[in-house]
Amino acid sequence: MAVVNLVVTPLRRRNCLLVLAFVVFIPFCFFVLFSVPDVSSEQMLIQRLAELQVKLQYLDTMYRSRQEDLQQLTAHIDQMVAPSDSNASLGALSPFGGAAPATTKPEIRQLLRNMSGMNAAHGLNPPIMLRLPSSFHFLPHLLDDPASLRLAYLMSKGRTGVSVVLGVPTVRREKHTYLMETLQSLVDGMSMDEREDALIVIFVAETDLEYVLLVAKEIELRFPSQVDSGLIEVVSPSVSYYPDMDKLRSTLGDPLERVRWRSKQNLDFAFLMSYCQPKGTFYVQLEDDILAKPYYISEMKKFALDKTANKEPWFVLDFCQLGFIGKMFKSAELPWLIQFFQMFYNDKPVDWLLDDLIYTKICNWEKNKDFYKRDKAKLWIHYKPSLFQHIGTHSSLKGKVQKLKDKQFGKVALFFPHTNPEADIISGIKCYKLYSLKRAYLGEAFFWGLLPQPGDQLIFKFKTPIHIKRFFFRSGNVEHPSDKFYNTSVEVMPAESNLYVNSLNLTADGYIVVGKFDSVGIATGNPNENIGRVSALRLYVHSESDNWAILSEIHIQDEYSVAR
Ligand SMILES: *[C@@H]1O[C@H](CO)[C@@H](O)[C@H](O)[C@H]1NC(C)=O
Ligand SMILES: *[C@@H]1O[C@H](CO)[C@@H](O)[C@H](O)[C@H]1NC(C)=O
Ligand SMILES: *[C@@H]1O[C@H](CO)[C@@H](O)[C@H](O)[C@H]1NC(C)=O
Ligand SMILES: *[C@@H]1O[C@H](CO)[C@@H](O)[C@H](O)[C@H]1NC(C)=O
Repeated sequence: MAVVNLVVTPLRRRNCLLVLAFVVFIPFCFFVLFSVPDVSSEQMLIQRLAELQVKLQYLDTMYRSRQEDLQQLTAHIDQMVAPSDSNASLGALSPFGGAAPATTKPEIRQLLRNMSGMNAAHGLNPPIMLRLPSSFHFLPHLLDDPASLRLAYLMSKGRTGVSVVLGVPTVRREKHTYLMETLQSLVDGMSMDEREDALIVIFVAETDLEYVLLVAKEIELRFPSQVDSGLIEVVSPSVSYYPDMDKLRSTLGDPLERVRWRSKQNLDFAFLMSYCQPKGTFYVQLEDDILAKPYYISEMKKFALDKTANKEPWFVLDFCQLGFIGKMFKSAELPWLIQFFQMFYNDKPVDWLLDDLIYTKICNWEKNKDFYKRDKAKLWIHYKPSLFQHIGTHSSLKGKVQKLKDKQFGKVALFFPHTNPEADIISGIKCYKLYSLKRAYLGEAFFWGLLPQPGDQLIFKFKTPIHIKRFFFRSGNVEHPSDKFYNTSVEVMPAESNLYVNSLNLTADGYIVVGKFDSVGIATGNPNENIGRVSALRLYVHSESDNWAILSEIHIQDEYSVAR
């Protein structure tokens, strides 16, 4: 008993909170004392105060969950200790073993004495704890395997305490995956400071470990420094986290495949949110096929802190008009969603559940729909213009083509112009409308070719032979990410033969292969210097494509352009 009391005395608890408060507020007090007050710094102060307020709320939930663990432990120990601690005088009255503790009021004792012999006298302080339902009640399959809540995979540097956590669920797709484009856009859109104060969690919602490892490997190869610094994490669930998907109830009259897809999505969101909850103050739900506007992190944070500073309550801040993309929550409030998704995962799609939760929280049944809209807008606040946009056209639900675009997002760059050496342009691929190869080479537009065939060539014949230092070709663009060059090599024609050139395997028509397009749709390289000057460079297509092909960036650098 003594040990337990030592750990949980209310005094201790209060001390913990005090320490917590000091850790947060002392730096703040210094900040206040030593900054010169003027109008803009007052604005900054208000923001900072709001930030601390939300942070404290987040730390408090972290502390609460520790407290919950402790309470369970205490109850457990109490039950084990109680029988040996029986008090002889009252023990006679209670079959529960001396349950009326020393603190029982005299009136109660009196009453008990007068009730002696009655059943009613024996009901005080029974050794029975109320059992509240937990997630296991809604997801009983989790009890079948002790490892059901264990992570199957985690690549992490353990970063915590950031301002914004971005949750990106991803699943295997039949056609194209845009995960790398999405990550590139998320990383590029952050300033250096924001990269220190954010966390991107990629949740690979697949139980095939081989696939999970391949995704993690590709991410590290593409973003080595961001993985090293802890900005990007990869996590995946164990097989037993999911119930038997063939035994789901058919709901809403949907075909079973759709029920499976949306039920899994609910469980995926609940997992991802639970994993991310302790890692930062705000949580933003994203998808694996989106683009972000530059400085989106600062914009979102500022908007959230303004609301808090103005004492406007909110539950969702919405930075994209589509589906469940770009929705921000306070991490401290995520348990509301997690529990709700777990309760109704088999019943409704995740975006409906969000709507229903807000409805339950704020709307009055007795009023009509207009009131609902008005009330809902108080807790679910939209930000314009949108900070996120869909890139993909293929949804992860087989056959469901996702063409929805957010009109609030605005224009994004579809090509990247460069100055290239003077050249004659020969395109063996017919172009669509005015999207010619020549205009692309001059940096006026992107090239858009119809269905490349094996043997098709795009040739750049230089006016005077050049030493190529580096070449860079980007295929596809954000609006048409699948219009890439597949199985296409980059080849150069040496202007004069030399010993080195003679030692190489040339193509039948005398070209040297110096590179090829990778799975992301980029071909880049620095040709061997010994090749000498070249009179032409060409892209050579080796197999048939199901897609049209876009060149959104062409950059050929000779020694002069490198020096420039
Ligand atoms: C039982 O309770 C009485 C009254 O509070 C106290 O005087 C007594 O010492 C207790 N006995 C034991 C064994 O704890
Ligand atoms: C004890 O209970 C009896 C029966 O209810 C009642 O008449 C009596 O006044 C009670 N005595 C005391 C001291 O409360
Ligand atoms: C040229 O091709 C032959 C036969 O395919 C191969 O053995 C050789 O290694 C190649 N040489 C170079 C330099 O690639
Ligand atoms: C590329 O094309 C060649 C020639 O048609 C073919 O042999 C090869 O399998 C293709 N490679 C891929 C990755 O499609």
